[in-house]
Amino acid sequence: MSSTINTMLVEKRVIHPAPEFAANARISSMDQYRQLCEEADKDPDGFWRRLAESNIEWRKPFTKVLDESRAPFYTWFEDGELNVSENCLDVHLRNGNGDKVAIIFEADDGTVEKATYRQLHARVCRIANGIRALGYGKGDRAILYMPMSIEAIAIMQACARLGLTHSVVFGGFSARSLHQRIVDVGAKLVLTADAQRRGGREIPLKAAVDEALSYEGADVVEKVVVYERTGAEIQWVEGRDIRLSEVEAGQPEECDPVAVEAEHPLFVLYTSGSTGKPKGVQHSSAGYLLWAKTTAQWVFDAKPEDVFWCTADIGWVTGHSYITYGAMAAGLTQIVFEGVPTYPNAGRFWEMIQRHRVTIFYTAPTAIRSLIKASEQNPEHHPRNYDLSSLRLLGSVGEPINPEAWMWYYENVGGSRCPIVDTWWQTETGAHILTPLPGATPLKPGSCTLPLPGIDAAVVDEAGNELPPGAGGLLVIRRPWPSMIRAVWGDEQRFRTGYYPEELGGMYMAGDNAQRDEDGYFWILGRTDDVLSVSGHRLGGTEIESALVAHELVAEAAVVGRPDATTGEAIVAFIMLKHPAAGDAEAQKIADTLRNWVASQVGPIAKPKEIRFGNNLPKTRSGKIMRRLLRLVAEGKEINQDTSTLENPDVLKQFTGVY
Ligand code: WTA
Repeated sequence: MSSTINTMLVEKRVIHPAPEFAANARISSMDQYRQLCEEADKDPDGFWRRLAESNIEWRKPFTKVLDESRAPFYTWFEDGELNVSENCLDVHLRNGNGDKVAIIFEADDGTVEKATYRQLHARVCRIANGIRALGYGKGDRAILYMPMSIEAIAIMQACARLGLTHSVVFGGFSARSLHQRIVDVGAKLVLTADAQRRGGREIPLKAAVDEALSYEGADVVEKVVVYERTGAEIQWVEGRDIRLSEVEAGQPEECDPVAVEAEHPLFVLYTSGSTGKPKGVQHSSAGYLLWAKTTAQWVFDAKPEDVFWCTADIGWVTGHSYITYGAMAAGLTQIVFEGVPTYPNAGRFWEMIQRHRVTIFYTAPTAIRSLIKASEQNPEHHPRNYDLSSLRLLGSVGEPINPEAWMWYYENVGGSRCPIVDTWWQTETGAHILTPLPGATPLKPGSCTLPLPGIDAAVVDEAGNELPPGAGGLLVIRRPWPSMIRAVWGDEQRFRTGYYPEELGGMYMAGDNAQRDEDGYFWILGRTDDVLSVSGHRLGGTEIESALVAHELVAEAAVVGRPDATTGEAIVAFIMLKHPAAGDAEAQKIADTLRNWVASQVGPIAKPKEIRFGNNLPKTRSGKIMRRLLRLVAEGKEINQDTSTLENPDVLKQFTGVY
């Protein structure tokens, strides 16, 4: 859909790893990369077995690597047993690293708090014991609706310790969205905070939980645990609500990790797909952990002395794989940040890198673009004014990074010294798939470069035939890999049709368009479905449409994305009202009402940037809304293609007013 990256055809810059970087890297040459690829291609089972044996501590060793008998429902290391939290915490205590700092937490107001692996382990054990005392454990599900905090990470780890499947809901989603996820996953337990602090503001969380639990079907929830973050006044439901401090109180600082089967669902994370309802992406324990840890080590070239900072929220998969699990399993010291990049000013990221001597910085293109803009407006907050000499590696994730932003990041943040790993992956892939290895891969700004060893990615046409260099097509992964999605929670059919369509004969379909260049490098062109990427947040166009149509004033709605210089894509809603607005002022008022409505139904992050009204929407003769044409209208482009298939060709002329 969006074509933010089609400058690639003229993008000829290639940046080679500096010899000093390569010399010390875990994977230090293209030869070494190719050797690993070859090992994996020749004997995939042997390759994954070797990694799983060396990177995971098993409670019960596995015998079989991959079981394909129920494809596409693949299983990995199925008869093995392990505990994920043990692999993230206890192993470091056993290896003499208990006093290493695990988390440096920086609050919105700048307060800093540190926890060593030993302290974190004790906290996780106390919480796990407390949750167990409430009566929950393996076989149950817990929903987390939490701010970025040591507590949230400790709760995720405590769930993993008990074999309690967690599902984290991003704090920017509304009570309605939260309710939908609580019901779908069947959570008996919800863990939240009174409120969260972001950008100097206090945003209530517990109130949204109360609202979510007042809707139909939410009575599956028995207990609500509340972390008192801000001391905000909240309502209290006796018998249901309990403070985190009470859950932990008096609990021992040891808690035996529960050994679970390799395939036991570690978590379910909801994400937007091509139909209205978000889908619960179910991940395993062993396969997921294996690739989250291995990629953290390879792609971030993790070293004991590194200070790693992934700026994602734990409500998204990046926060799961590279904060809660990958970074911890790799034994890194990491920054956890409560706030936003622009508060108290747009120098916050740079100031924090300077303050904590961050060595690896992993963020999203949208953040980079907004900080480029901010530093142009206010040169005081330009990265050159900060000491960023501690940095040795940069990363990008979540959406295509345009070559200009890439170069700015490379030169101004990385001092033309730090490689950038542009990592392509998805909630469904669990961990990195296409990415440079910083000590080996020559970089091209705007390309996520090459598949990791063991990953068989390709670009194919709609019949599954591999396409030659330069041809755009579907991005697929041909062989299964350990951290892949296991199921769409409670919906077998959706898993099959969504990811393994028959036409592709057993290949995983990512839902992205891509093309490869002459060197085999991948260039991501955008989604094939209506999934939008707004400020790096993955949102479903259909979900927003459904919300709009549910409003009493709206007859029909179509939502599309248009490229936006800062947020990647901006949401544009085309709306047919039941009764047309009587003039500009009323149209503006209705637009505001609808925006707030979307915020209440889906979340503030899903508010349309632009709303355009019309008396009808462009449709094919069979009644399908032509979103392709609306996209052109949204981009302000001339429509010079054939519109004869349109039932009502004149319809496109009316969407002139933008609200
Ligand atoms: C997009 C985020 C280009 C892509 C980890 C994918 C990217 C979707 C990149 C998944 C990248 C992610 N370059 N596009 N480096 N990384 N995407 O599930 O469209 O929130 O399908 O996972 O983001 O988003 P999700």
